[in-house]
Amino acid sequence: MISGRAKLAGVLGWPIAHSLSPTLHGHWIEKLSLDAAYVPLAVREEDFETVVAALPRMGFRGVNVTLPHKEAALRLADTADDAARACGAANTLVFARGRVHAMNTDVAGFLASLDEAGAGDLDGMRVTVLGAGGAARAVIHGLLTRSVSEILLCNRTAAKAEGLAAFFGGKVRPVAWDTTTSALGSSQVLVNTTKLGMAGEQPLDLDLAAMPAGGVVVDIVYRPLETGLLARARARGLTAVDGLGMLLHQAVPGFRAWFDVEPRVTPALRAHLVGLLEGG
Ligand code: ATR
Repeated sequence: MISGRAKLAGVLGWPIAHSLSPTLHGHWIEKLSLDAAYVPLAVREEDFETVVAALPRMGFRGVNVTLPHKEAALRLADTADDAARACGAANTLVFARGRVHAMNTDVAGFLASLDEAGAGDLDGMRVTVLGAGGAARAVIHGLLTRSVSEILLCNRTAAKAEGLAAFFGGKVRPVAWDTTTSALGSSQVLVNTTKLGMAGEQPLDLDLAAMPAGGVVVDIVYRPLETGLLARARARGLTAVDGLGMLLHQAVPGFRAWFDVEPRVTPALRAHLVGLLEGG
């Protein structure tokens, strides 16, 4: 039950009906018995700036931002954190004292999901990253903050991998897409940031035989939760990390900033979201 003093937040996107964020934040609001609401806001690209200008005047404390607004969110912000600047995109806005602060919490979400799986110590490791889109930027920025030795960046369109390597500097080395299998031979960690393996997309046919024992395979796809890539990793005895952890953990910093409470990612919350994903 909310009162006239309820703290307000939400998620802006177009389309927005598929978003799991209202369920996720709603779960925390209920568990913590907060006088607060988190609502889905279907906002077209051309209306984004007008809506964001109006939200603080309506009492909103901030919002999450999803496709197609992530770059525009960073552009309109007055201040931004390192992760948002490195990614050229923001997924979280905080409204305070008449200013808009942009954050990219996908980076922290990615790292927290690795920590949760016991795979967060990346110091000196070589990592293969598949893909060179927005998600790859967040993953690469996060990996570099954990002092990896090298990132082998494989992307179907070589020019995009080269562009990202130039942006992030010496530790990121572009590698031809058709040589991914050999890159795996010297990588302790593999991260898929492409859409391959997602429901309705083409499968990711990648042979993991060359990966060293004890390796870690991360798939940021979470529909389905168990992608073909992760199933093959488990069959080989590698550590498999699914995309749900990143989704859950990226939501924490925004909730904390808007509602002044630290929410917890619990097994019960994960099970609730798994149920929704598997049911629909
Ligand atoms: P996001 O912001 O979610 O990362 P994106 O910017 O559209 O999404 O990037 C999607 C990534 O998936 C890209 O690296 C894309 O490769 P290209 O740069 O060659 O387009 C990759 N991708 C999508 N479909 C693919 C396919 N069929 N085969 C290989 N890579 C694919």
